[in-house]
Amino acid sequence: MSIKTIFDDQNVPAPFQVPLNQKYDTYLLNGEIKKWQGKTSEVHSPIFTKNAEGKLEPTLLGTVPVMGEKDALEALDAANTAFNNGTGLWPTMKVADRIKCVENFAAIMATKREEVVNFIMWEIGKTLPDAQKEFDRTIEYIHDTIEELKELDRNCAKLKLHSEVYAQIRRGPLGVVLCLGPYNYPLNETFCLLIPAIIMGNTTVFKPAKFGVILITPLLEAFAEAFPKGVVNILFGRGREVATPIVKSGRVEVLALIGNSKSANALQSHHPKQNRLRLVLGLEAKNPAIVLPDTDMDLAVEECVLGSLSYNGQRCTALKMIFVHENIIETFNKKFVERVKQLKYGLPWEEGVKLTPLPEPGKPEYIKSLVDDAIAKGAEIINEGGGESHHSFVYPAIMYPVNEKMDLYHEEQFGPVVPILSFKDVQEPIDSIVNSNYGQQVSLFSVNADTLAPLVDSLVNQVCRVNINSQCQRGPDVYPFVGRKDSAVSTLSVRAALRSFSIRTLVACKNNQLNKDILNDMLDNNKSNFVNTNYIL
Ligand code: G3H
Repeated sequence: MSIKTIFDDQNVPAPFQVPLNQKYDTYLLNGEIKKWQGKTSEVHSPIFTKNAEGKLEPTLLGTVPVMGEKDALEALDAANTAFNNGTGLWPTMKVADRIKCVENFAAIMATKREEVVNFIMWEIGKTLPDAQKEFDRTIEYIHDTIEELKELDRNCAKLKLHSEVYAQIRRGPLGVVLCLGPYNYPLNETFCLLIPAIIMGNTTVFKPAKFGVILITPLLEAFAEAFPKGVVNILFGRGREVATPIVKSGRVEVLALIGNSKSANALQSHHPKQNRLRLVLGLEAKNPAIVLPDTDMDLAVEECVLGSLSYNGQRCTALKMIFVHENIIETFNKKFVERVKQLKYGLPWEEGVKLTPLPEPGKPEYIKSLVDDAIAKGAEIINEGGGESHHSFVYPAIMYPVNEKMDLYHEEQFGPVVPILSFKDVQEPIDSIVNSNYGQQVSLFSVNADTLAPLVDSLVNQVCRVNINSQCQRGPDVYPFVGRKDSAVSTLSVRAALRSFSIRTLVACKNNQLNKDILNDMLDNNKSNFVNTNYIL
């Protein structure tokens, strides 16, 4: 089969059809779902379909609002009013009541699974099982967050006495959070920011990523129904026009962004009082695999294929460089090529499909430029058909031998091109990691603890997760997701995110009769939401 046939079957099975050419014109402002009357932009799918003349073109899914500065500032006003300098209904609400709102949200969200999963496939080309996993993982994340917050709250449900000072220590909200997610996990990664931010008592303005926009619209009602007005405001449009004015205003306390460091740097620099802006950022990475001579070859190949090509390599955690010891490079390359050949390509809903069209319109050209540059500097495409493209689809290019002069060595390719390098001394890949701008994760492949242990001990201080005989990945979401250097700011995990979106606050008083009477009165009569020892079950 040639990749040119990828869009031939135009009969989309009924369960996976979505309405085409629709007007998605609603947004969420101050608790109300509003109708947008202004400028719009078209949303095209990476899945091509035939037009009336029989010519393939990106399927037009519909239009979405292109909002601007005025709308952004209105949403910011709503979020600021709801927070009201920490005195609003939401930031002062009992934790148990905030949890009820989030539970209600998750219950309504669960009813939208099919619709959202279909849009994930159509908007960003993710396979059906991965789209379903993204949805289910998000619901699970919400439930885990609720349990973790209960635990956190229970640990704070007591008064401490030290050095004759009583204190009750809790975690309080920070203020207004501007939340921007990435296109590769438009639901999961965005909600992994949004949900902890909300549940800790912050109020939010959220703008979906550049792709994966329509899939948020079925959830607008859930947000409107579950939360008091102004707690969640959802805008559509370009970052420059919507996010920049919000940051410029200085009335936002947290920038929560998963994406690119260039946009993060540009945005944060607009804040007039930069020390007041807390950053929660997940940025680029160039995670390497190091395949050592004493490896289990089949296992290493399997994990490296998964790591480099799941969702066509469009994961921040993807393996973006594979260093293989020179004694085993020939066998590794042969087996890697064979394994990639078995990956089925096609449309996201097709059974067993692994390689799918890419959502970014310029991506095939970008991949080609990386491949051409690597070839000009001495690499070869070692798999048949590698790098061939057809409209939005690019067949993975496996490149060997890659070296430091090539763009592919330095750039986060975020797509289906796999650079392989051979090494003689393990110091070579280590030096590459030390000199890299990124420091997220690494994967080590060997069957020998004596080989692995010294590497583990030095690499844990270069990156934030060393994977043994396993691909790099974020999950399970209860584990810390973090990076050194330009890869991240702040830690995300079910537990860490609750801390990233809050600050320790305490109520304290000297130990004397007057203060004890006051504390007892507050506790016995449930007078304060903060000073209390109620236990959330
Ligand atoms: O794009 C980055 C994601 O956090 C990766 O998550 O490792 O679960 O695919 P994942």
